[in-house]
Amino acid sequence: MEMGAFAAIVVFCGLMPLAFGVPPTWKQPEQVHLSYAGVPGSMVVTWTTFSEADSVVEYSIWAGKLFELTAKGQATLFMDGGSEKRKLFIHRVTLTDLKPAVSYVYHCGSDSGWSDIFYFTALKEGVGWSPRFALFGDLGNDNPQSLARLQKDTQIRMYDAILHIGDFAYDMEEDNARIGDQFMRQVESIAAYVPYMTCPGNHENAYNFSNYRNRFSMPGNTESLWYSWNIGPVHIISFSTEVYFFIKSGLDLLFKQYEWLQKDLEEANRPENRAQRPWIITMGHRPMYCSNADKDDCTQFNSHVRTGLNDTDPPAPGLEDLFYRYGVDLEVWAHEHSYERLWPVYNYTVFNGSRNEPYVNPKAPVHIITGSAGCRERIDPFVPDPRPWSAFRSVDYGYARMQVFNYSHLYLEQVSDDQYGKVIDSMWLVKDQHGPEAWL
Ligand SMILES: *[C@@H]1O[C@H](CO)[C@@H](O)[C@H](O)[C@H]1NC(C)=O
Ligand SMILES: *[C@@H]1O[C@H](CO)[C@@H](O)[C@H](O)[C@H]1NC(C)=O
Ligand SMILES: *[C@@H]1O[C@H](CO)[C@@H](O)[C@H](O)[C@H]1NC(C)=O
Ligand SMILES: *[C@@H]1O[C@H](CO)[C@@H](O)[C@H](O)[C@H]1NC(C)=O
Ligand SMILES: *[C@@H]1O[C@H](CO)[C@@H](O)[C@H](O)[C@H]1NC(C)=O
Ligand SMILES: [Fe+2]
Repeated sequence: MEMGAFAAIVVFCGLMPLAFGVPPTWKQPEQVHLSYAGVPGSMVVTWTTFSEADSVVEYSIWAGKLFELTAKGQATLFMDGGSEKRKLFIHRVTLTDLKPAVSYVYHCGSDSGWSDIFYFTALKEGVGWSPRFALFGDLGNDNPQSLARLQKDTQIRMYDAILHIGDFAYDMEEDNARIGDQFMRQVESIAAYVPYMTCPGNHENAYNFSNYRNRFSMPGNTESLWYSWNIGPVHIISFSTEVYFFIKSGLDLLFKQYEWLQKDLEEANRPENRAQRPWIITMGHRPMYCSNADKDDCTQFNSHVRTGLNDTDPPAPGLEDLFYRYGVDLEVWAHEHSYERLWPVYNYTVFNGSRNEPYVNPKAPVHIITGSAGCRERIDPFVPDPRPWSAFRSVDYGYARMQVFNYSHLYLEQVSDDQYGKVIDSMWLVKDQHGPEAWL
């Protein structure tokens, strides 16, 4: 046979499966990440394969007999909305009866392929401890400035949980969701070791947020769109600001979420609950306030997130009044690719605790915007003159760290990646009283 013909056959056979869109069998687990299932002693392991496979986690106590425990779960088929209609199998396994504060090692997959070995520490139980968080938004697969620093922080066990406040990958659906795959591989380096808790941002909106809804596994039954969970003395509420902007996904979602928020806040404010978990912290992607030099919603007095929509039937309530009414202590946001700390604020008015100690017994919620983790859109500059409610601003790449010490003390700081990890801002929020009564 002539060399040319041989080469032609090889090339032909090699290209055939690609040309007809039949990928090879691929049962190797990847994109491993953790989330807290919302029940004490639990953890969800989520991963991806590209062919159908079983969903198993083998695990054991650190330094115990390796993989002596087994948990099984389920895979769901996620078909991306792009032209290739790529198929991903998203595996979810919930581990239960984990011992508080005990470290575990695990791998996941099936007899057709196992992941690397990872480890995590089960969350402590009860309210008498001081959980530590990393928080940020707007982390992309290109220019992920803060990721290396977050990897090292995570490896030296600085955090009990990571809060990613919307906008992932830029964008997960791009290149037929291969960008989503690549991003999830990148964040495995942190998300496979501590619970990685999320909320949706505007960059997730393609195909009705399907990449977001399918790839994450947050508590509750809303496909990770809104949910709450407890950790130590804190009740964290995660929600979608996007219901105010992507009305085409369903206006009913906005009202459903609002009703749920109200119910959740009511419950969290029952005296016996608030006494146990005095801190209520909300996380949503698009802020109500910001002083960036763009035309974003947060730059407008009539911000949709803050005041709602008046051109829908019926009009849709905003969130500032709701959060104020239920005495939310801290509201964390992203979307603006910068860091901004606000004085306690309600209705565009500053309500300092006192002039010298604005964050000691503040008379309104405190807002933090931390959306400069790093993405291809770079940084969002500020208008030259800070607003009266703006306390500190920075356009360095970076992220925030938070520790909730006890009933009265919460500490938050902003790390600059540009300045090699320097802490460029910090705040102690001190409250002798929580709930709406604290505003009086
Ligand atoms: C978008 O997804 C949500 C959550 O699954 C669903 O309730 C809603 O009906 C969907 N909207 C559209 C337009 O398909
Ligand atoms: C409706 O909201 C827009 C901003 O979204 C605002 O400019 C307008 O004044 C509002 N109208 C009324 C009647 O409140
Ligand atoms: C909010 O402030 C505006 C003035 O900027 C005022 O007219 C309005 O009554 C205030 N609303 C509340 C609920 O305090
Ligand atoms: C709030 O406190 C800060 C810091 O002391 C101060 O600069 C600002 O003017 C205060 N704002 C009001 C309205 O009291
Ligand atoms: C709460 O934590 C802060 C910071 O560590 C500490 O100064 C304070 O004494 C603690 N309060 C109580 C009641 O333990
Ligand atoms: Fe955003």
